[in-house]
Amino acid sequence: MAGRRILLGVTGGIAAYKTAELVRLFKKAGAEVRVVMTPDASRFVTPLTLGTLSESEVHTEIFPENEVGSWTKHVALGLWADLFLVAPLTAQTLAKLVSGACDSMLTAVALTARCPTMVCPAMDHDMYLHPAVRANLDTLAGRGVTVMEAEHGELASGLVGQGRLPSPEAIFERASQVLAAKASTGDGPLAGKRIVITAGPTRERIDPVRFISNHSTGTMGFELARAAARRGADVVLIAGPVSLATPDGVRRINVESAADMHAAAMEHADADVIIMSAAVADYTPATPSTSKIKKEAASPDLNLTPTADILAGLGKAKHDSQLLVGFALETDDGLVNARSKLERKNLDWIVLNNPNEAGAGFGTGTNHVTLLSAHGHEIALPLMPKADVAEAILELAVLGTDPSTIDPAS
Ligand code: CTP
Repeated sequence: MAGRRILLGVTGGIAAYKTAELVRLFKKAGAEVRVVMTPDASRFVTPLTLGTLSESEVHTEIFPENEVGSWTKHVALGLWADLFLVAPLTAQTLAKLVSGACDSMLTAVALTARCPTMVCPAMDHDMYLHPAVRANLDTLAGRGVTVMEAEHGELASGLVGQGRLPSPEAIFERASQVLAAKASTGDGPLAGKRIVITAGPTRERIDPVRFISNHSTGTMGFELARAAARRGADVVLIAGPVSLATPDGVRRINVESAADMHAAAMEHADADVIIMSAAVADYTPATPSTSKIKKEAASPDLNLTPTADILAGLGKAKHDSQLLVGFALETDDGLVNARSKLERKNLDWIVLNNPNEAGAGFGTGTNHVTLLSAHGHEIALPLMPKADVAEAILELAVLGTDPSTIDPAS
């Protein structure tokens, strides 16, 4: 943190008072801090307080009165920062960040900052869970913004729920991680590479209430995304419905059905590396009902129709310098079936795992995989945490590291 430049944006919520302690933590760790506030924020914590603690002028207006030649400060501040951190972020400023509205120094800086952005939304429980707020947070996350979710607890309204700003210590910790991830991008072994990773299950709608899905939690794909971002790659994570936080520095696209995932994958089909770790549904109801199917109705005919095989389509269109990695989930004849999928789908590598095996497949923190390549490699890894499996896949399949140099126990 020493020497890092933190641009702190404060918006008008009751939790703004906690930023005084946050500024103190950054300063104590040796960071430089500058503060921009929305005009409303100064009703909760004064510019004098934050100016004194940050030892720097606090900015609120784009066009401050009595100041000549200062209107380009939003550009200068945006370029100065190593991290733009907005805490607390109100629903109002969130909506402005999403739409690109620019009516204060803070929202202007948001449009000019070239550094990573992290936001800490804080508001009342019902506001926090409102679909408009959730959709806006998803949009920011999809643009690569780090969203630190609010905590559950007592709120200023007297209600108990989700919406509390995390503690200054927790925000400081997360900001340090974002800066560390940034430090690794640009100079890692995958710098300049575009990697697309799919993760999680898909949901195939039967009616407005029910769907067909599977047990995938998305952990393997999220660990792959984290490991790729840490190696400097430009990572797009196409995620089915899972409740995992987006790894720092990763652009996330949320999808629901196999058709959505197909469309999102096709938009990024020219990436340097594509890793399909998602558990895509093979079948979907041909005509999902728009009304809830009543149980009195005769046993419903789901009329299932096959989904597009995304990976097979990517394999057909694969260009010479592209690397395509698939997963094979097999309960029987694993090696034979996986090798057949590798060939049929024109893959470079396939990662075989068995959902019936203890500690492997869905819903566990570990996995037990064998990597097979189009060049005949067959590398059986021991049972390992999924984070380590992700590291091994990137090293072996993507970076081409000699398997004999990898110590699976390390
Ligand atoms: N896959 C895909 N699109 C589908 C189904 C699967 O892209 N509609 C991808 C998965 O992401 C995985 C690979 O294909 O990388 C193999 O998936 P798997 O479920 O093991 O095999 P399937 O091809 O679906 O065949 P089967 O279910 O018969 O084993």
